[in-house]
Amino acid sequence: MHPLEQLLRKNELWLMRRIRDYAVERDYSRYTSTLEEAWRISIVGLTDSIISALTISEDPWELSPEDTYISDPIAAFGVLEAQKHRSRGVTLEMFLGLMKYYRQTYLDLLRKSYPIGQVSKEEPLNEVNNDREKYSHFIERVFDRIEIAFCAEWGRSDTMNRAIGELQETNRRITNEKNKFLTIFESMPTAVFLLDDKRRIVHMNFSGAQMIDPTAKSGGHYYSHPDDRIPFPWLEDELSRFYETGDEKEYEYLIELPDKDECQVLARFHPMEDISFKYTGKVVILQDITERKKAEKELKQTQTYIIHQEKMASIGQLAAGVAHEINNPMGFIISNLSSLRKYIECLTEFITVEDQAIALADIPNDFQLAEIREKLKIDYISEDVKELIVESLDGAERVKHIVQELKTFSRIDQADYTLIDLNETIKTTMNIAWNEIKYVATLEHEFGNIPKINCYPQQLNQVFLNLLVNAAQAIKDQGTITVRTWCDEKNINVSITDTGGGILPKDLARIFEPFYTTKDVGKGTGLGLSISYGIIQNHGGEIRVESEIGKGSTFTVTLPIHK
Ligand SMILES: Nc1ncnc2c1ncn2[C@@H]1O[C@H](COP(=O)(O)OP(=O)(O)OP(=O)(O)O)[C@@H](O)[C@H]1O
Ligand SMILES: [Mg+2]
Repeated sequence: MHPLEQLLRKNELWLMRRIRDYAVERDYSRYTSTLEEAWRISIVGLTDSIISALTISEDPWELSPEDTYISDPIAAFGVLEAQKHRSRGVTLEMFLGLMKYYRQTYLDLLRKSYPIGQVSKEEPLNEVNNDREKYSHFIERVFDRIEIAFCAEWGRSDTMNRAIGELQETNRRITNEKNKFLTIFESMPTAVFLLDDKRRIVHMNFSGAQMIDPTAKSGGHYYSHPDDRIPFPWLEDELSRFYETGDEKEYEYLIELPDKDECQVLARFHPMEDISFKYTGKVVILQDITERKKAEKELKQTQTYIIHQEKMASIGQLAAGVAHEINNPMGFIISNLSSLRKYIECLTEFITVEDQAIALADIPNDFQLAEIREKLKIDYISEDVKELIVESLDGAERVKHIVQELKTFSRIDQADYTLIDLNETIKTTMNIAWNEIKYVATLEHEFGNIPKINCYPQQLNQVFLNLLVNAAQAIKDQGTITVRTWCDEKNINVSITDTGGGILPKDLARIFEPFYTTKDVGKGTGLGLSISYGIIQNHGGEIRVESEIGKGSTFTVTLPIHK
């Protein structure tokens, strides 16, 4: 690659920044582009012209009175720019003035001179050490050719009609383009505000206007421009910080908007993308993220619900496994204890008979029967052993019973949809809950005559256990928990009534929400009722609550007999 081409290509960004700086300093930027890409394209166009000249000849393209500059390929860029700028309403003076700074920029690169104070002091990437003068001269001539071509093109179209026609056509195009971007801006579902340095609204789109006034019309702000400040007090602090520091950040707010319920808003602040520093305001973007947050929360709840369900299922399995393991040894312990009781009875009976025989026989005192008998507490043992066995049997029976309860509770044998007697199920659950209840309440039940129903017994156990534990936890000193069952034609009803503290009206509306708990950290997760609610719904039934502060609460579960 030619060293000049290499230099120009490498420093594309440098050239672009320098011409931008010249334009800003000399106030040409009022008529130039705001976006970096437009500047880059003009630099690339000029560089291409210089390089295409270079590939034809390395000698400076001296000027001649016979040259036809308009058709000169090296000046083609100038001709094109002349047409574009003229139709944009730029005057010849303006364009030639700015062109001088383009030329200056390229020469700066070669000569490393900085004639103007404000331009960037950034060094170019490389230098052409040799032939600087030659290349400067070369570039001067290329620019001369471009400028002459530009003037020639400009002068060619001086007939009024043609110029007006061109301007009208351009105006139509620009208006269409403006309308397209205005429509895009207005159609965005996200609220966008453009603010000036004094934080007044320069523009806002339809979504933004609706946040302020729900009756706003699309395009309303564009065509009327009331320039008030952005009217959200909740945004003030962070917006002030952004104006001070320029740090781009995101913030989430929980707010109430006119005509809307509480909603969650994500706010983002950006400076205006304008490398010419013409528009120095800020962009504020407000996005309604209520639905997204709701979905995230629901997902989290579902996950927790599933985890809870799985936990309950694995506890059930564990309980069933342990119950099974204990069941076997319990079987032979009870059976052995029963045999032992019979054997002891036989032995004591025999000892009694023996005693009588010994009393009649004349046994020498050498045997010291009486002393040994006393020392070994034989009389006490023969009385106590019976009691010990009875107690052990009683204990073993109780263990057997608990194991049976555990088995029934986890229902390994009935894990699926099954026809069951609800009274039986509830009785089992009451026994399981008894540990939690016995210190605070007496547990009563009034079971009605109810038909068997098809259900998931394990899940219903969980519901009644939750309700019983809640009831026990609601009682402070001593109270009563009453479980009732009854039925009508269509439904079976189960109510659990406690004489606890009752539920405050403000809590009543929320107790079925997941994670809603009034209990201390670690004591309640707030999941019990929401899970119960889900289970009962799943069974096509419903769960209701009545409560009176200071008197107690009644939870009633209604399940359809035929589902
Ligand atoms: N019988 C009741 N008496 C008074 N308040 C109750 C009763 N049952 C439930 N509540 C209230 O409803 C809230 C939610 O109950 P829920 O069973 O869903 O969660 P929890 O008992 O707090 O926690 P977890 O059941 O997960 O251990 C409780 O914190 C309590 O305030
Ligand atoms: Mg609970």
